[in-house]
Amino acid sequence: MTGSEREQTQRALNAFLPEGVVVSCERFGNGHINDTYLVECAEGYPRYVLQRINQGVFHNLDALNGNVEKITAFLRKKIIAQGGDPDRETLNLIPAKDGRKNYVDGDGQCWRLVLYIEDSVCYEQVEKPEDFYLSGKAFGYFQRMLADYPAETLVETIPHFHDTPSRLTALWHAVSEDRYGYAGQVPVELEFVKAREKECHTAMDMLAKGELPLRVTHNDTKLNNIMFDARTGDALCVLDLDTIMPGLSIFDFGDAIRFGANTALEDEKDVSKVFLSLELYEMFTKGFLEGCQGSLTDEEIHMLPMGAKLMTMECGIRFLTDYLEGSVYFHTDYSEHNLVRARTQFALAADMERKWKAMTDIVEKYRV
Ligand SMILES: Nc1ncnc2c1ncn2[C@@H]1O[C@H](COP(=O)(O)OP(=O)(O)OP(=O)(O)O)[C@@H](O)[C@H]1O
Ligand SMILES: [Mg+2]
Repeated sequence: MTGSEREQTQRALNAFLPEGVVVSCERFGNGHINDTYLVECAEGYPRYVLQRINQGVFHNLDALNGNVEKITAFLRKKIIAQGGDPDRETLNLIPAKDGRKNYVDGDGQCWRLVLYIEDSVCYEQVEKPEDFYLSGKAFGYFQRMLADYPAETLVETIPHFHDTPSRLTALWHAVSEDRYGYAGQVPVELEFVKAREKECHTAMDMLAKGELPLRVTHNDTKLNNIMFDARTGDALCVLDLDTIMPGLSIFDFGDAIRFGANTALEDEKDVSKVFLSLELYEMFTKGFLEGCQGSLTDEEIHMLPMGAKLMTMECGIRFLTDYLEGSVYFHTDYSEHNLVRARTQFALAADMERKWKAMTDIVEKYRV
């Protein structure tokens, strides 16, 4: 840690904790977005996690913090009512000395302090199918715990995040502008999207008609956003609530499948290696439906495979749009990087179409 980082964390900790309490504060975890520190304190105090929220990524900080506050308070109450351990089963925001749940320092940097979840482990990546099952179960249970939360009271901190039709509009706009003259290079990809244009509207249309309910969604359903109990091995707590928003349950499910059940890397150049692993898909589906414990509607369950396909199509559409716009949004290592990524997504969506019957049969098998 540099001297200035030490000073900044010290200043932030002073806003939350009495002077002289902190024994050490060191960088911690493998998060890519926020700066995360483990804080050790004098006897009689618990351990904490200090985080500086990345304002390059998150612009609407008040709304983001408001969403996290509301959800953690709701979960805490529910966990207590169920006889659980509220200090370990949800994040607990420690109020600053001024009573607020965040501290904004003189440089405008925003900090939060949460309780460190004791006796827990975090796994960086899925190493065996069982891990993916546990991940599905944890995010399903998260849905179940928040099933009666009024999702519309949360702020959509990234507007139109999974609004596939609006992602499509952006693509057609990029094609018509064609600022770099790339559109002529991608007729196959554009044709692939066009052929599925109607389908891309399905979920948002169903939401508008009330056929799918608005839910609290996590939007970053990765294994390393779950803490597991070090003693029992069970999932304990879902972390990283910065992208919590109102949305559709099938999107949380679908995005997890999109990145977790792909047999190849997101930027694999050889698309013949890109498949949907039905084994992993089944593991996550089983876990997710078990975790949801009957809190999803019949229609939501029925639409889970479509959630996976839509998230995959949408992601491909976003990569392709960014490619046409000169790769200004996603970080790229070479000029065609976004095109390569778009192609993997479309290859995955095509494989889902080939495996559609198996995907729907698996959902039916675990429907509860
Ligand atoms: N309260 C906590 N108790 C124990 N460990 C924690 C806690 N909060 C965070 N961690 C650890 O720190 C890591 C990073 O935290 P978090 O996921 O909030 O950061 P991030 O930068 O937003 O991550 P990402 O790269 O996933 O967006 C977690 O994967 C976990 O290992
Ligand atoms: Mg994380």
